[in-house]
Amino acid sequence: MLSRELNERIVRVGAGTPMGAVLRAYWLPALLSDEIQCDGAPLRVRLLGEDLVAFRDSSGQVGLIQSHCPHRGASLFFGRNEGAGLRCVYHGWKFDAHGTCLEMPNEPPNSAFQARVQAAAYPTSERNGVVWAYLGPRSEIPELPDLEWNLVPAAQRYVTKRVQQCNWVQAVEGGIDPSHSGFLHAALHVDPSALRPRDRYRLDKRPRFALLETAYGLRIGARRPADAQRVYWSVTHFMMPFYNVFNTSGGEPEPSVGGFAWVPMDDTTTLAWCFTWNPRRQLRDDEQGDHPRVRTGVHLTPSARLPTTSAPGGAWRPVANRSNDYLLDRDLQRTRRFFGVPGISPQDAAVQESMGPIADRTDEHLGSSDSALIQVRRLWLNAVDERARGGIPLGIASPHGYRVRATEFVIDAEEDWTSAAADWVTGRPEARSPLLT
Ligand code: FES
Ligand SMILES: [Fe+2]
Repeated sequence: MLSRELNERIVRVGAGTPMGAVLRAYWLPALLSDEIQCDGAPLRVRLLGEDLVAFRDSSGQVGLIQSHCPHRGASLFFGRNEGAGLRCVYHGWKFDAHGTCLEMPNEPPNSAFQARVQAAAYPTSERNGVVWAYLGPRSEIPELPDLEWNLVPAAQRYVTKRVQQCNWVQAVEGGIDPSHSGFLHAALHVDPSALRPRDRYRLDKRPRFALLETAYGLRIGARRPADAQRVYWSVTHFMMPFYNVFNTSGGEPEPSVGGFAWVPMDDTTTLAWCFTWNPRRQLRDDEQGDHPRVRTGVHLTPSARLPTTSAPGGAWRPVANRSNDYLLDRDLQRTRRFFGVPGISPQDAAVQESMGPIADRTDEHLGSSDSALIQVRRLWLNAVDERARGGIPLGIASPHGYRVRATEFVIDAEEDWTSAAADWVTGRPEARSPLLT
């Protein structure tokens, strides 16, 4: 439970809010590189409550500038992307990627006015298919975090996004919540003898949790008995301010890893970036695109998207959404699935959005299975305090620590879960995934 005041402190993301100041200290994933082309159409971007326009000029430079033209506020989304800048269609003022006003064709030539007008423009950095944006103070621009999905070659990763109609905090809390999968995403009837060991261990719906505070956030261990002497651990991560790494898939010996970035568009809308990547090999067809196995998983695959609109995130809106109860099938829920919404992500979205646009945490009842999210709330509140004192929030000074992977393994009950498979978990180049027996 959180008081109304503490809840407000973590959920609000706009400029001038305490958490808004924290989030502006980090680089934020803003768009995919291939969403804008040289001299192509601008893209609407909504980030931390700010309406922005992204464009790529003829030299390839990405601009991320205020949506409203500094002249009289017409939308620069309608602009002409010409040569070295974006020209407002209302009176022809032209701005470059840094927000500098290059031309004012309706003012007298040689007017000094032009030099006094500047559009707000945010620094961007492009790496491996992702355009990052930094909305914080220019004197403190940090390094990009070493998130592995953003470091591996294109053939080794699959990235999708999904607009979610709720506050980012309840979305992150859904992502790191290790105890919901055995319910929300589960089948009703399973034959344990037909399952792989990992899935058999996971039938235990009351795992015990262990937490390790790290330089990037939190390492989360879920422990279940494997046999008389040994225990099965699954290890996931929360990385400040809104990332998680939550599973492995794709089979041994070289499994792929999955993760999310829950990026606040505003207080009540979240752009959930979803990643599958493999540290060592190219992804297979059944790990990307519209393959049936992918369709029932966490990605918003092409066939599960509504037709693209020009709204912020307009290419990433799910067909299964609140307006149609996420395609809930009551018959399926009665006979085969714990929850009759088809697909993992729509299941998550349904429960997270059903908590309301901003979840009320004043009357929740948290149990021992909620220990991870209790700890993450502490990290957020500490970051707010740290920022208010002028400090640097957790993780920013440790960009290399973000290269972490989820995993699972079976070890003796007395063994230390934090050192088992540590090479793999911390992304050392030659590390091999632990084999599950
Ligand atoms: S409103 Fe943009 S040039 Fe006038
Ligand atoms: Fe889930």
